[in-house]
Amino acid sequence: MSKNVINHTYDAVIIGAGGAGLMAALYASRSANVAVISKLYPTRSHTGAAQGGIGAALGNLEEDRWEWHAYDTVKGSDYLADQDSVDVLCKEAIETVIELEHMGLPFDRTDAGKISQRRFGGHTNNDTGKPVMRACHAADRTGHMILQTLYQQCIKNRVNFFDEYHVVDLIRVGDSVRGVVAISIITGEFHIFHSKAVLFASGGWGRCWEVTSNAHSLTGDGAAICLRRGIPLEDMEFFQFHPTGIFRLGILITEGVRGEGGVLINNEGERFMERYAPTIKDLASRDVVSRAIYLEVQAGRGINGKNYVHLDIRPETVNHYFEQAGEDRRISAAYIEEKLPDIADFTRTYLGVDPVKEPMPVQPTAHYAMGGIPTDVNGRVVIDAKNTVLPGLYAAGEVACVSVHGANRLGTNSLVDLVVFGRRAGNQMAKFCNEVELLPLPEDPTGEVMAEFERIRKNTGETKSYELRQAMQQSMTTYVGVFRTEETLTTGLEEIKRLKSRYSDIEIDDKGLLFNTDVLETWELGCLLELAEVTTVSALARKESRGAHARDDFPERNDDEWLKHTLIINEDGTYRLDYKPVTLGRYEPKPRVY
Ligand code: FUM
Repeated sequence: MSKNVINHTYDAVIIGAGGAGLMAALYASRSANVAVISKLYPTRSHTGAAQGGIGAALGNLEEDRWEWHAYDTVKGSDYLADQDSVDVLCKEAIETVIELEHMGLPFDRTDAGKISQRRFGGHTNNDTGKPVMRACHAADRTGHMILQTLYQQCIKNRVNFFDEYHVVDLIRVGDSVRGVVAISIITGEFHIFHSKAVLFASGGWGRCWEVTSNAHSLTGDGAAICLRRGIPLEDMEFFQFHPTGIFRLGILITEGVRGEGGVLINNEGERFMERYAPTIKDLASRDVVSRAIYLEVQAGRGINGKNYVHLDIRPETVNHYFEQAGEDRRISAAYIEEKLPDIADFTRTYLGVDPVKEPMPVQPTAHYAMGGIPTDVNGRVVIDAKNTVLPGLYAAGEVACVSVHGANRLGTNSLVDLVVFGRRAGNQMAKFCNEVELLPLPEDPTGEVMAEFERIRKNTGETKSYELRQAMQQSMTTYVGVFRTEETLTTGLEEIKRLKSRYSDIEIDDKGLLFNTDVLETWELGCLLELAEVTTVSALARKESRGAHARDDFPERNDDEWLKHTLIINEDGTYRLDYKPVTLGRYEPKPRVY
């Protein structure tokens, strides 16, 4: 391979053009020269898959307060969230949603013309414990609308976009960062983006699992790159399974369905969440609902003996339960078409199921990484248990761990996280860029990663990357899924290590440079395998059950020993664990009751 590398210089580079990347770019570009690098066209970013709403205690339809939102978030997190970060999230959610509205985001409206809000899992009136309408929505396309709105604003603000450029390395020299290395997907050429600051907003890694709501692009590149460059990852054992993915396909069916009154039903026709969460029922937090579905299936109450249940939004069902609860709301077929058009379309298209007339087959789907690159509340990456900042490196959105989601994220809080902490990181990064000089590049910044791509392209072997990917996804689903034990995790770890050792045996078919998705997907698989391993190592070590990490062999939460964040650090290919305390605040840990 030629050493023909193309150089660019910016104050700041942002990796990822989802909600966090775009919000950071918008703010940073007000006083710094910013490039956004994305392996996708920006409006195809995964923020577009968040359907049901963005949480903010606007109180447009009933009483609400940001402190209630904060308490729900901390309780939902099973008390692992840092409460100072949660306060920022919930307080700033309000002004940020109004800012999005002023940018032109087409939210649905109440009769009085205010932003419309709906119920969502775990969001409550703290006085009654009953669900509260807090999710601000644009039909079931809220994330999509956020993307479109922010992208338009970035274009207006002359942000520089490098679409379909795949970032493959971070240029770190000691305690400073100097930019990133990327590949143009179209030409296969390597590019150096030399900068004062770098922000990762590159999303999650749901593709480690077999059934996932995540797009093919969610391969954890940013997290894996940081791990390889000596940055720890935090709380990797906590990966959320959203209760309602389309059976077998995993595509998200928004929690907004249950927010509008939809109910989960087993093969005996029972609304089983009444047993698991008597007060909040189908709107309990996601970890609780996913486990309930799993247990129903295990007890033989899956539909037709299979591993799925029904999600029923048919007007006659919903209105029956509204009547039973003494609520004066009623829904109609037209209401479903208006409020949930995308999910109606998805189930008709992918399953031939019309949700107005039939219940939808659903199962838990790997959805969201609560853990990731550790940051402070201004998006600055911190690299140890003492929260030492690595100057010039930032992260925001799903790839980051600030930590507002702790052991389990509430629905709607991902979108809040993106815009609140994307904005803070963008501001902070611009300030930093205006204070420091551009540091020189090290000698041969592309050498290592170019050699790895050369190896992948030229390697001969017996293994195909799709086979290895499938085997990894099956192992993670079987051994590192909704429920875990010492035995499953140990077997899972052995399996992942075995697959990792086969990674060097992969031979790809496309040896060319132009639009070579074969080589890029193989490189992505390397990232996924590393993240699968650190997830499993972190999960094996945590001997308790908390939020999304449910250990059958340690079924209780153990605050005495485990009220702490996990850090996992790569030391020359072996992983070391460390821990740091949770920042507590107004809310003392107590048992969660829904
Ligand atoms: O259910 C949903 O609409 C997903 C939203 C989220 O993950 O926050």
